[in-house]
Amino acid sequence: MIERLKSWLVGYQKEKSLKPADEERLELLKKGPIPRHVAIIMDGNGRWAQKRGMPRIAGHRAGMKTVRHITRAADDLGIEALTLYSFSTENWKRPQDEVNYLMGLPEEFLRTDLDELVRRNIRVGMVGREEELPEHTLRAIEGFKAGTEGNTGMMLSFALNYGARSEMIQAVKWIIDDVESGKVDKGEVDEGLFDQYLYTSNLPDPDLMIRTSGEVRISNFMLWQLAYSELWFTDGLWPDFSRELFYKAIEDFQRRSRRYGAV
Ligand code: IPE
Ligand code: IPE
Ligand code: MG
Repeated sequence: MIERLKSWLVGYQKEKSLKPADEERLELLKKGPIPRHVAIIMDGNGRWAQKRGMPRIAGHRAGMKTVRHITRAADDLGIEALTLYSFSTENWKRPQDEVNYLMGLPEEFLRTDLDELVRRNIRVGMVGREEELPEHTLRAIEGFKAGTEGNTGMMLSFALNYGARSEMIQAVKWIIDDVESGKVDKGEVDEGLFDQYLYTSNLPDPDLMIRTSGEVRISNFMLWQLAYSELWFTDGLWPDFSRELFYKAIEDFQRRSRRYGAV
């Protein structure tokens, strides 16, 4: 109890009030269309660390702080859903110590940030394959889900062991199961039904996808859901990404004209 109180106080102190310039910008942004769902490929942690002569994991640590700042920035703006690509199905190819470190981050984030997330009425979830994840990582995710399930505000999802191709193959298998058992009729299989079998079934498609680090590719992220998303890329590395840049992306989004194939 005392520990919880202490971490609550620490968390509370960390959350400074907004600078007047940020407040002003936020109010202006709120006058325009706000994306319902923003998805981010948080890239460049390793390079950030290497540039400083530090091990790659130092970059992941710094990147976790950015997760906190951007979660606050998105929540302050009234975004409904924020999805953060945290570990891909291809990232298992990395050195074991880096993988281990990344798998430990959800527990750490749970310890340091759950109280603030609850205070902000944010719900936390995961999109991705649970199968290969270590027990302790899954426990942390469960802790987040249980700790925030009563909340009604922004949906913060971590894409963990996520890969769009494996997600779609899994969806196809589940649909086949349901067709074979008679739960679903083959004629009912359409885009809307397919959506319901994806890990993101509880989320609208992203309106805006952001990728940091200068790479201009999708890296197996939400291939289905990004069909009509606006894409925004920046050369900055994820640990250097900021509320200012995030709001710049939103400003640019507000100037885009979305046509969905129409005129
Ligand atoms: C993104 O940063 C975080 C994860 C993929 C987990 P990287 O670790 O890919 O950093 P770079 O791209 O090597 O700099
Ligand atoms: C994409 O970044 C995955 C995450 C941000 C979690 P990567 O660094 O793994 O992507 P590539 O290898 O540059 O395409
Ligand atoms: Mg990378």
